[in-house]
Amino acid sequence: RNLKWQMECRSDIYRLNTQFLSIYESLIPPEEEKAKQKQLLTLLEKLVCKEWPEARLYLYGSCANSFGVSKSDIDVCLAIGDADINKSEVLLKLADILQSDNLQNVQALTRARVPIVKLMDPVTGISCDICINNLLAVVNTKLLRDYAGIDVRLRQLAFIVKHWAKSRGVNETYQGTLSSYAYVLMCIHFLQQRKPAILPCLQGMRATYSVTVDDKKCAFFDQVENLRDFGSRNRETIAQLVWGFFNYWAYGHDYTSSVISVRTGSVISKLEKDWTRRVGNDRHLICIEDPFETSHDLGRVVDKFSIKVLREEFERAADIMHYAPNPCVKLFEPY
Ligand code: CTP
Ligand code: MG
Repeated sequence: RNLKWQMECRSDIYRLNTQFLSIYESLIPPEEEKAKQKQLLTLLEKLVCKEWPEARLYLYGSCANSFGVSKSDIDVCLAIGDADINKSEVLLKLADILQSDNLQNVQALTRARVPIVKLMDPVTGISCDICINNLLAVVNTKLLRDYAGIDVRLRQLAFIVKHWAKSRGVNETYQGTLSSYAYVLMCIHFLQQRKPAILPCLQGMRATYSVTVDDKKCAFFDQVENLRDFGSRNRETIAQLVWGFFNYWAYGHDYTSSVISVRTGSVISKLEKDWTRRVGNDRHLICIEDPFETSHDLGRVVDKFSIKVLREEFERAADIMHYAPNPCVKLFEPY
């Protein structure tokens, strides 16, 4: 279908590619944003160290996984060695400290699923969420960043997909659609599945990096500078991959029985994971296995209404890529 699409439907493939690439370029954060993030992190380290000299701060999420677009908020993890601390107390104390140093909009959200302190730094204009001891997020951030270092097409595809999801209102976990983290995993999985593959399965290779977090062993090959040629036998361009991605999620994926798994570099069965029926609030209507917390389905937020919204959006996007005269505009039209 891919070839047919190129030859018959989209004689404008070259123009389309150039357009997608320029959208990608326009979303890349400028260097000075990185510098400002560093500046804020240094300030936070100084404040935190006074109270908890042993603690460390890590950036995670889109500001550190290379999938962050311009003007994103930053996610910070405060790692306090002691596992027995009371997170709420630490967050309230932290909020106190930050408040008295002129940081703005400081709020401790101690009851959230992931409890955090929110703040805004008036000097750099950056907003920031700080969580406690969420080291798995720091490790999965490294995994995503390492994947991005293998083939630039991952970053291009993920930027386009995230931009589409935000424009179409399907990047809202509280409304039952998917997180940015889930979309990036979907992109990695998709590129692992191309023939020839564009990405390898890092967790399936000899481990050169290994840590144990919350009793979970996280190990993978991380010398990605040695994998720069990995995808070179596949010459697909960004427009073809965007088309293929939406086509897969619209018409290719088996929602009834399949789970996508970046950990194994393949599709596995719901049966094998015991994700065949609803347990509590987890419905498993679209199944995306977390690479380290393998009992986590990142699709668990999706309910019987939002699955319809999602699938209709995938179909809309696939059809636009197939037929629309101007996909680069149409795809991102606000809903
Ligand atoms: N995360 C996670 N498990 C989830 C959701 C998120 O471990 N179910 C962690 C991941 O490390 C992820 C980070 O939290 O990178 C931030 O998640 P999210 O906000 O979805 O992604 P961002 O990459 O920060 O995207 P955005 O640009 O939309 O802020
Ligand atoms: Mg984020």
